[in-house]
Amino acid sequence: MNAQSPTVYRAAILHFLSDPDVDGENAYQFFEDGALLIENGRVLQVGEAEAVLASLSSDIPVVEYKNHLIIPGMIDTHIHFPQVEVIASYGEQLLDWLNNYTFPAERQFEDKEYASNIANFFLDELLKNGTTTALVFGTVHKQSVEAFFEASEQRNTRMICGKVMMNRNAPEFLCDTPESSYQDSKELIEAWHNKGRQLYAVTPRFAITSTEEQLQKAGQLMEEYPDVYMQTHISENKDEVAFVQELFPDSKDYLDVYDQFGLLGKRSVFAHGIHLTPREHQRFRETGSSVSFCPTSNLFLGSGLLDIKELEEEQVAYSVATDVGGGTSFSMLQTLNEAYKVTQLNGNKLSALKSLYLATLGNAKTLQLEDKIGSFKEGNEADFAVLDFNSTPLMSLKQSKCKTLAEKLFAMIILGDDRAVRATYVAGNCVHDRDNSSASQTNQNKEVGAA
Ligand code: GUN
Ligand code: FE
Repeated sequence: MNAQSPTVYRAAILHFLSDPDVDGENAYQFFEDGALLIENGRVLQVGEAEAVLASLSSDIPVVEYKNHLIIPGMIDTHIHFPQVEVIASYGEQLLDWLNNYTFPAERQFEDKEYASNIANFFLDELLKNGTTTALVFGTVHKQSVEAFFEASEQRNTRMICGKVMMNRNAPEFLCDTPESSYQDSKELIEAWHNKGRQLYAVTPRFAITSTEEQLQKAGQLMEEYPDVYMQTHISENKDEVAFVQELFPDSKDYLDVYDQFGLLGKRSVFAHGIHLTPREHQRFRETGSSVSFCPTSNLFLGSGLLDIKELEEEQVAYSVATDVGGGTSFSMLQTLNEAYKVTQLNGNKLSALKSLYLATLGNAKTLQLEDKIGSFKEGNEADFAVLDFNSTPLMSLKQSKCKTLAEKLFAMIILGDDRAVRATYVAGNCVHDRDNSSASQTNQNKEVGAA
């Protein structure tokens, strides 16, 4: 991937091997004094520091983060890069929010330079929050996605992005046609899918903004390129669900609209899925499609409370995501905080271990990427975040009162945000260093964490 001599990162280390709700303590590895050995952008070894260091030659540099926790880079399975500036827009639910705030903002991305500036800002913001992979919406403009992939390629981040396909129920300045959306998407797939770490997602915005002809073109792309992703929205808002039923009176339900055009499958990610029926759950299960749970967005837009316990009972795969700019934070920690509260309101619990599993390995699995990212399995790409147990006075005080790992992780999730991310590494390179504004290679053989 990239030429890099072996380096050891020493700190507390946590990563998952499977779902802790299923496998309990066998689902994760935690090393209080751990070491992560990286070379050429990949994980070579993870374990107790003493054992790892004893097996290595003494001249290998050791970067030590005292009182910090290293976890795999977090993964966000649903976010819109052109909506950075839409975040925190007051007073509307989904359909009015789209018309009043989002569509006007997305218009600006016809300008490639504007798109590049926002793409760079967006990626830096993700990295600052410890997120190293995301499934990302562009706008209807092909150049918005070119700008995004160029910015991601520069950082060597593993990102999935797609050009929005939309040809009705939106302002004319944001509409493409079935044919042009097919052509543009095809050219983007040919140019960017699997180029370095970049991956493509066919992206019909949602059933309301595409005609049958356009959804048919999206299905054609999925057939022609079976290893690309598909991302869209579903059953987020009750008015939206009713409108879809009006537009597609012959469909069994909302999911059936997508199903009829061959858009379901293991690489298909449907944002929200709050108001799904048992039949839709069944089709999710049968096809291996997944729901992306976006708690900050669902609360902010008043969309509803997704019941993840019900999804588990129905064996529907799900992941967690920010959905910025409907969502209100880039931080996956803050997203998990709100996921906990939504789950509480549904009368259930979401443990800290399950939460961090979801943000790393769980999300990687829904993207079929668990052989590359999401854990420190040997050979995986070395994307990781360094979390600070003393990021604020309140975090410090609370952590000093926590006795168990579960308590410490829970406090990290509830109180943590970008301030809790001390550093972020992508393919073994430091791409964000909170305490040194010009992020670059960390000093070797130095203790870089606060004592
Ligand atoms: N449904 C269709 N488009 C969008 C969008 O941009 N954001 C959200 N949250 N839902 C949508
Ligand atoms: Fe969205």
